[in-house]
Amino acid sequence: MKAISVSKLKKTFNGVVAVDEISFDVEEGEIFGFLGPNGAGKTTTVRMLTCQLKATEGKASIFGYDINKDCNGIRRLIGILPQEASLNELLTAEQNILFYGILYDLPKKVIKRRSEELLSVMGLEHRKNDLVKNFSGGMKQRLSLVLAMLHEPKLLFLDEPTTGLDPQARRHIWEFIKEINRQGTTIFLTTHYMEEADTLCNRVAIIDNGKIITIGSPAELKSKMEKEKILEVEVDCDENTINALKRVSGVKQVSYANGLLKIIVEDRKGLLLDIVKNLSDKNIKSISTAEPTLEDVFISLTGKRLRD
Ligand SMILES: Nc1ncnc2c1ncn2[C@@H]1O[C@H](COP(=O)(O)OP(=O)(O)OP(=O)(O)O)[C@@H](O)[C@H]1O
Ligand SMILES: [Mg+2]
Repeated sequence: MKAISVSKLKKTFNGVVAVDEISFDVEEGEIFGFLGPNGAGKTTTVRMLTCQLKATEGKASIFGYDINKDCNGIRRLIGILPQEASLNELLTAEQNILFYGILYDLPKKVIKRRSEELLSVMGLEHRKNDLVKNFSGGMKQRLSLVLAMLHEPKLLFLDEPTTGLDPQARRHIWEFIKEINRQGTTIFLTTHYMEEADTLCNRVAIIDNGKIITIGSPAELKSKMEKEKILEVEVDCDENTINALKRVSGVKQVSYANGLLKIIVEDRKGLLLDIVKNLSDKNIKSISTAEPTLEDVFISLTGKRLRD
């Protein structure tokens, strides 16, 4: 049975389309990623699949349970890490866990056992009696994960689990996600970090403007760019030069950020020379070719960067 099955799911808010007839399946045991920029429709999709928001059109099921009919069945099987933490700041970590466990009708003994296990994995046991309002962002995120996993869900929804965290905190959460997946939890995660999708996910759907624009394993998505090359030029650049480069034949996409010009090109003889000509009055510090990343796949398909 599929963990998630989605067919032509759509959501409009006052006539504005947020999720536009998306279809995909998630197999049991997978880590499936939804990669897309701000406003792409990631959270709206999660909220529909977790029975927090009614779909406008289309169908979806979670382990065979229909999201329009069987929300009670679904809630028992899923855990949710919302994009915005929903912790009670005026309670301690342990009180938050107890409160959440009671909401889920878990016996006190189970709450205690799970709480100890998860607080220890998350490195929070020595802070369990502290008020959440004194926690750092990373600690709050780890506590939110404890709550999401408390009732041992088969399927865990993670809405941007590491946004705003430093690299070390991010890595800690990645390790946790990998470990619970090894132990059998299916994961649906949204992110706008291409490294996150690349490192964690078995398959990724790239979403933009409410539509899935491509879907596959990170390796498959990147291999679709085999005919294209990525040039990285370290140079101080201006708008005019970027526009001139965009007009060079064979150049597919140009983007510029932090002193690094990224040019996606279709291979052709003499192209490099034409590019360098356009940069002749600029101080080029280096030119190199790069392996495609998932962000390049996104740029190649949409002409935009994941984060503007
Ligand atoms: N409750 C709402 N009422 C009206 N419009 C909404 C509502 N929720 C979301 N939207 C709109 O739907 C679109 C998709 O929003 P959504 O939050 O799903 O994007 P997202 O991919 O999660 O973005 P982010 O990366 O910023 O979290 C946006 O245009 C947003 O403004
Ligand atoms: Mg979101």
